Amino acid sequence: MTKYTFPDNFKWGAAASGIQTEGNTNKANDNIWDLWHKQAPERFYRGIGSDLVTDTYNRYQEDVALMKQVGFNSFRTSIQWSRLIKDFETGEVCQDAVAFYHAYLDEMIANGVEPMMNLYHFDMPAELQQKYGGFESKKVVDLYVDYAVTAFKLFGNKVKYWITFNEPIVPVEGGYLYDFHYPCKKDGKLAVQVGYNIILAHAKAVHAFHQLALADTQIGVVLNLTPSYTRDDRAADQQAAWYADLLFNRSFLDPMVKNEIPQELCELFAEQNITPETTSEELECITSAKIQFLGVNYYVPRRVKAREAEYELDHFTPEVYFENYINPNGRFNPYRDNNEILPTAIYDIAMNVRDNYGNIPWFLAEIGIAMDEESEGKPDENGIIDDSFRTELMKEHLIQLHRAIEDGANCFGVHQWTFIDNWSWTNSFKRRYGFYRLDLATGDRIAKKHGVWFKELALSNCFED
Ligand code: FCB
Repeated sequence: MTKYTFPDNFKWGAAASGIQTEGNTNKANDNIWDLWHKQAPERFYRGIGSDLVTDTYNRYQEDVALMKQVGFNSFRTSIQWSRLIKDFETGEVCQDAVAFYHAYLDEMIANGVEPMMNLYHFDMPAELQQKYGGFESKKVVDLYVDYAVTAFKLFGNKVKYWITFNEPIVPVEGGYLYDFHYPCKKDGKLAVQVGYNIILAHAKAVHAFHQLALADTQIGVVLNLTPSYTRDDRAADQQAAWYADLLFNRSFLDPMVKNEIPQELCELFAEQNITPETTSEELECITSAKIQFLGVNYYVPRRVKAREAEYELDHFTPEVYFENYINPNGRFNPYRDNNEILPTAIYDIAMNVRDNYGNIPWFLAEIGIAMDEESEGKPDENGIIDDSFRTELMKEHLIQLHRAIEDGANCFGVHQWTFIDNWSWTNSFKRRYGFYRLDLATGDRIAKKHGVWFKELALSNCFED
């Protein structure tokens, strides 16, 4: 048995988001998920949208008590733009939302759970998408910054960790390249513009945050990162991986963490005729917006090989430069569409951040082990669900994180995705990730065994294996 001890004051908890948990009670405005679900419910697994979900709006007190039961000392969720702001043009807030977020934050703080608040989790207000094209427009960039400032001012004395965006590349991929988020466009040039505008929105919000000079608070961003692994060392595959890394990782990491826009990326965009519209003031804003910490989400590794078949799509996607590749010797999670399991990727990500990104303080902001309800099974005679599969895999990932910390990684915490099984975009409730099962028929929260293990880990700051 080896004992793995984590640094003092390590953050242990879970991540979720407003839209995936709150439900629609008293929500001032629709977001694009409400809109899309009304238009095309068949795009959602079993037709279930985000209207009721975990119903945290009504059940937050009970839920914070459940957080304590599994040992959390911190928790990330998001404020919903479409809940907080009543009138997007004037910035008028919804008083009910202000009261709700205050009460929710107070409840966490009173119970020793440090709230980390994100401002955008794929949830563009429907009105702004319809009127302006969402982040296609720089007008919406400015409206986002107004909203961010409102949130900082309202809750800045309670929230010590602010996050501008969760996985900012995902709305670009989903909404503008691969058709899994509204507005379901497939347009490489627009995708690049949206990506750029999101980076600009982030940068402007970071500057606005620093100007407010709130005491004892920090601002950061959460990125989904994975190295691009290849078949072997052949040069063409290495080249493919370099492109995948440039487009999927460095595209956001470099501007947001190093305040640099990779020259190679600009050249690639020029070559593909997809250069976004920028101004020198905007570029100056991006390259001077300093964040204080980074969140990293990791689920599955990316594997690529050199392109062999001809590229057939009529719009640009990063796959112009590589093909995805399934490792014939990989380990796969039978409970999540056979996604590959690769705990050592955590170590590789940590070393990349250490060596190439100034070893910025970071935390594992999402690590999730998906299972479906059938494979988790029914509760035992004590009412607990046996998800030891999840615990075993979590240990393997944490051992790699521990190794990285011993090798100098500046990691300050781990948040598992997610707290209570929650609604997940078009997958709805297909995959379960929570410490607690959500019974969709009754809304009941049912404990899983993993939470017992996690509590001990969180309270002792170590585990043995
Ligand atoms: C991540 C998202 C999160 C959740 C998990 C399963 O990419 O950040 O909202 O849906 O995937």
